[in-house]
Amino acid sequence: MKPFLKLTASAATALIFLSGANPSFARAPQAAATADAAAQSAPTASWPEFSGYKRYHGNCSVCHGFDGLGGTFAPNLTKSLKTLDHDAFMEVLVNGRQNGNLAMPAFGADPNVMCFAEDIYTYLKARSDDKLGRGRPSPQPKKPADVAAAENACLGL
Ligand code: HEC
Repeated sequence: MKPFLKLTASAATALIFLSGANPSFARAPQAAATADAAAQSAPTASWPEFSGYKRYHGNCSVCHGFDGLGGTFAPNLTKSLKTLDHDAFMEVLVNGRQNGNLAMPAFGADPNVMCFAEDIYTYLKARSDDKLGRGRPSPQPKKPADVAAAENACLGL
């Protein structure tokens, strides 16, 4: 069960207020904070999806556009992932690809990308499958402790 669903209605309201997700909702009377409110406070994305959202927008969106939707010269990855499978995605990500004057950089030696490659794939796949909408997922999920440890190990921290 998702821990957010176990919150009381008032705690959920406080959380929404703190996250600044929806100020008009946060000002609603306590009584309105029903089970619906608790449902609304559930994360809209899994941790890997949210992590992938952040890493994608830190490393890829400059060419591939916000939300994976394509840039002036790099393809729309929400379309690519309808046919490109996981291994083909990783192959391009690690080795890059040159196509005339279009260059996809090789990220294989960049830990800031490779330690989060599965998250980036998961995010883009969720976008491609229409499971995740545009923009920053909100409220955001919390990073599980075992994931934090694995990330630090990968980054050599
Ligand atoms: C400097 C610009 C640039 C950046 C930054 C960049 N890409 Fe690319 N990428 C491209 C271009 C250009 C292509 C198309 C290459 C071609 O036509 O073969 C491409 C192609 C791809 C493809 C293959 C798409 C397909 O339909 O075959 C994938 C997957 C991909 N990029 C993922 C990523 C990811 C993930 C990141 C971030 C970690 C990223 N790219 C960052 C420019 C970029």
